[in-house]
Amino acid sequence: MGLLQNKLIVIGVSGGIAAYKSVEILRQLQKEGASVRVIMTRNAAAFVGPLTFEALSGYSVYMDVVEKDVSGEIRHISWADKADAVIIAPATANMIGKIANGIADDALSTFIMAVRTPVLICPAMNSNMYESRAVQRNLDCLEADGFHVLEPDSGELACGVTGPGRLPDPPFIVDRLKKVLSPSDLKGKRVLVSAGPTIEPIDPVRYISNHSSGKMGYEIARAAEYRGAEVKMVTGKTSLPVPFNVSAVNVLSAAEMYEAMIRNMDDADIIIKVAAVADYRVKDVAEHKIKKTSDDMIIKLEKNPDILKAIGEKKKNQFLVGFAAETRDLRENALAKLKSKNLDMIVGNVVSEEGSGFGSDTNRVTLFYADGNIDHMPVMGKDAVANALIDRILARII
Ligand code: CTP
Repeated sequence: MGLLQNKLIVIGVSGGIAAYKSVEILRQLQKEGASVRVIMTRNAAAFVGPLTFEALSGYSVYMDVVEKDVSGEIRHISWADKADAVIIAPATANMIGKIANGIADDALSTFIMAVRTPVLICPAMNSNMYESRAVQRNLDCLEADGFHVLEPDSGELACGVTGPGRLPDPPFIVDRLKKVLSPSDLKGKRVLVSAGPTIEPIDPVRYISNHSSGKMGYEIARAAEYRGAEVKMVTGKTSLPVPFNVSAVNVLSAAEMYEAMIRNMDDADIIIKVAAVADYRVKDVAEHKIKKTSDDMIIKLEKNPDILKAIGEKKKNQFLVGFAAETRDLRENALAKLKSKNLDMIVGNVVSEEGSGFGSDTNRVTLFYADGNIDHMPVMGKDAVANALIDRILARII
């Protein structure tokens, strides 16, 4: 289950030009399974009509403290009780000032006073206003009070000025909300993940590779970042965006991945080797495109280094996790790899099974541990597998 599945998120919209972006935030949250309620200030309603939010959220917009909902509930109290998290986007200088100073004179600021769940504040305004002492002081104050404050983007603003003050893109805001909703139990830990396929060139235009999409490794990197770790990813070629706040080393071949992993392993506390590494590479890579001059052809391959095995031999205190993608005899193969590569844990999956393997958004894995324990997991989203994996690793390193 995704982090936002069945969550109730309240979006507070205050009066700035970026208010239109909140519509997209709402849509994104719903796409990820959340239910959304919207609170607007009167000024926000001058930028985007409440009807837009009403139609999309399926709930009337809360705008006036003295108004009662048709159901008779006092919404600034009942929504504050029910909300799993709150996003204020855009947060104007005025709204920031009110919340920081305990002023509750409209629906949004009154609601915030009653909220006990995490609040992500997304300031958006003219650069001079954002950099003003009052706004900066108020933001410091909000952070000290436990609010999560997102730094605005820099760029060309609606007022024509270029500088900080732009509301970040909705996917980024939703992503940071997921971080806010995750425990910070990996704080202080450094995680190194390898992901994706490797590519072994045959000639300048052709290569040998495999079907790895990189999804599992990227989800692990993302989940580890959400949970507070400093994450580095050594990644083969994929079509996926690098998760926010994760540093990526791009590689193509197994030899490059070997070099990058060995170079970075000493700085890691946890190493998770998800990448699908080509076991063999072409012995003599042609300098020019190979022409079809004969009816058949033989390409001579030579063995690539086993990266995981090398890490297993060199590791000091790192917790080392490998993956075993098998088509049969999962237990025997996974246990043999666990032992021969000196791993603390191996994540086995049968790639030919429905709901598992390359390209799929779900995975069914079995975890084998060096101490002999085994965990069978059901089919889960790769994001949930990533979190389950981190839970198990944490339980063993603490
Ligand atoms: N691995 C690696 N370097 C290689 C081959 C594999 O680091 N040259 C790592 C993978 O990233 C994975 C684990 O070893 O974490 C198991 O990979 P897998 O392809 O399942 O097994 P192999 O060891 O290659 O064995 P085989 O292909 O014979 O099943």
